[in-house]
Amino acid sequence: MIDKPNLIITSEFHAETVAKLDMLYNTHHLWKYSGLEKLELLKSLGGSCQAIATASWINDDSIYQLNSLKLIACFGVGVDAIDFALAESRKIRVSNTPDVLNDSVADIALSLILATSRNIVNADSFVRKQGWHNGPFPFRHSLKGKTLGIIGLGRIGEAIVERALPFKLKIAYHNRSRKDLPYRYYSSIAELATNSDILLCMLPGGEKTRNVIDEAVFEALGQEGIFINVGRGTSVDESALARALKSKQIAGAGLDVYANEPCVPEALIEEENIVLLPHIGSSVFETRTEMGNLLIKNLEAFFANRPLISEVR
Ligand code: NAP
Ligand code: 8YV
Repeated sequence: MIDKPNLIITSEFHAETVAKLDMLYNTHHLWKYSGLEKLELLKSLGGSCQAIATASWINDDSIYQLNSLKLIACFGVGVDAIDFALAESRKIRVSNTPDVLNDSVADIALSLILATSRNIVNADSFVRKQGWHNGPFPFRHSLKGKTLGIIGLGRIGEAIVERALPFKLKIAYHNRSRKDLPYRYYSSIAELATNSDILLCMLPGGEKTRNVIDEAVFEALGQEGIFINVGRGTSVDESALARALKSKQIAGAGLDVYANEPCVPEALIEEENIVLLPHIGSSVFETRTEMGNLLIKNLEAFFANRPLISEVR
């Protein structure tokens, strides 16, 4: 009988996938170990364990103590929690789960566009609190003909565009590099904001995008503008956003992600012109199963010495 390879799992990121991994590998559940025990486990597996499976956006830095580490297989597409400088210096490869989540994340982006532009959450409260007896709910602007500006038009961004076009939204975008697409490109976020009615952030996290959406961007977006973030909370200066909402510098906002999850700044919770979701972009059964299956395919390729299916380079 061939021994199953060792695999460290950092957290119970998806019970169904963890159960599959338990069948396929000799798994070690790192989250069940306390600080010192964890380090002892990582030391004892040095030389005999080469791979780690982890949620992509929260990592346990103790994993780098595993001296034989060669693969970090991430559950999720955003890999901002990974220390790439360290991984590169030690030739540790990283895989993630792109594309399989595009549709469900794009659905949430569209939900936020509709909920904020038509004030859906407050309209629901209005009915429940019997406000309707005192007159109609205030009007909003239509989506038709407005411009949706996407910061970070990549895989998920393109799935958002597919959904936005039937709503008759015009598309504009900002990336570091222009794409061969028939949409207006702006070379700066502020310029895109000036020319957008709805500004949607789909940027990856990490130092390069930290706080790139700041007070100047909200000023450029203007009083009728709506800001949506489905990328990473770290890209947004959340205090500036709260001030922009309070002073009505912008009309509204919708967020799925925050800088320090699960903590949501009180200053944002206090505002009524914002829709707050608990990072549910990919939280549907089908997508999570596909993400888990892709993580497993990457592990299988790694252990079979084949090219990874989705390696982050
Ligand atoms: P992707 O295909 O790599 O798209 C990212 C886009 O952002 C690219 O078009 C890239 O174009 C642009 N970009 C990257 N860095 C930039 C910078 N510094 N300034 C301007 N543009 C920049 O990634 P994706 O699969 O669409 O995922 C995007 C992100 O969404 C993930 O990294 C993750 O953080 C987030 N996400 C959130 C959820 C959720 O549940 N809310 C779920 C999945 C993913 P250039 O390279 O030309 O700049
Ligand atoms: C998940 C995400 O919440 O893929 C990402 O980057 O943010 C989401 O899909 C997360 O990956 C679950 O671990």
